[in-house]
Amino acid sequence: MEMNQVITLSQFIANEQLKYPGSTGDLSKLFRDIKLAAKIVNRDVRKAGLVDILGEHGTINVQGEKVKKLDVLANDIFIASLKAGRDCCAVLSEEEDFFHEVNRNAKYVVAMDPLDGSSNIDVNATIGTIFSIYKRLSSVGSPVTEEDCLQPGVNQVAAGYVIYGSSTMLVYTTGQGVNGFTLDGSIGDFCLSHPDIRIPVDGAIYSVNEGNFSKFSDGVKAYIEYCKASDSATGRPYSARYIGSLVADFHRNLLKGGIFMYPGTSSAPKGKLRLMYECNPMSFLIEQAGGRSVTGEQRIMEVIPTELHQRVPVFMGSKNMVEQLEQMLNATTVA
Ligand code: AHG
Ligand code: MN
Ligand code: MN
Repeated sequence: MEMNQVITLSQFIANEQLKYPGSTGDLSKLFRDIKLAAKIVNRDVRKAGLVDILGEHGTINVQGEKVKKLDVLANDIFIASLKAGRDCCAVLSEEEDFFHEVNRNAKYVVAMDPLDGSSNIDVNATIGTIFSIYKRLSSVGSPVTEEDCLQPGVNQVAAGYVIYGSSTMLVYTTGQGVNGFTLDGSIGDFCLSHPDIRIPVDGAIYSVNEGNFSKFSDGVKAYIEYCKASDSATGRPYSARYIGSLVADFHRNLLKGGIFMYPGTSSAPKGKLRLMYECNPMSFLIEQAGGRSVTGEQRIMEVIPTELHQRVPVFMGSKNMVEQLEQMLNATTVA
């Protein structure tokens, strides 16, 4: 890359597409719609602190519109953009009970968490949007079915997230590695800033809501104790880092190396995070970056989904860390 040469997300996608002569460009158009929605949500997220000026949720703002919660607003913005673009047949969203048919003449299903980490909005901490893209199984033109939206993660054709942090980034994969783009507000476009992201094979960060420690299985407890034990050869104790926004915790560990855990607990055996729009897209990204993602029993992306809003325990991150955890889980199951 020449000095000062900027590659925008659209240029990057167009160049990638040239590598696949048979491609129709529909996926590129879908990315155009996701990119537009991300820019609009970014604008609204950046105004979130002005809620006192713009109006509380449920009140009427100065334009005479009802003020929506930011996660509902983000959901509406993404669906509107995907509808307008016409390349998405259905959206499955955290904010909707059932999937939402958008255009039955299109071939792609989008699963999304329109605003992840929304409890962090009030305290000005990093939040994100997560998306996952599948090809529908039923034929184009017919009504979209639940089976189209309930595919295992291995079927994903693309996945990514937008992180609204100190800068705004879009990170995605189509199964050819992971690339990150930073929004340059002055030109209004995402520019390639993190080409070919690889997660370090070893890491020194563990991320888990340790407040739930007493409710974890013996294997998970043993691994957390291992992270905290002193051992100069392996650089332990590791650092604990947990924001409580999956996108933020994931993004840090992806760049620095580490393990993110949301285990099952005695009160919630499947944990909290949702398979279709949180765990699968993040697992596709982490595997494409050279990492690993499991439920503790199997690869996340091989889980056969049975419900749209299904939850699943998740352990993902640097390959050696996840493998170490799996060994300890197996050891306590066998014992
Ligand atoms: P969402 O805001 O989309 O409901 O997701 C919140 C999720 C996720 O971002 C984070 O990893 C997790 O909740 C944190 O949960 P705890 O507060 O239980 O640790
Ligand atoms: Mn979420
Ligand atoms: Mn959410």
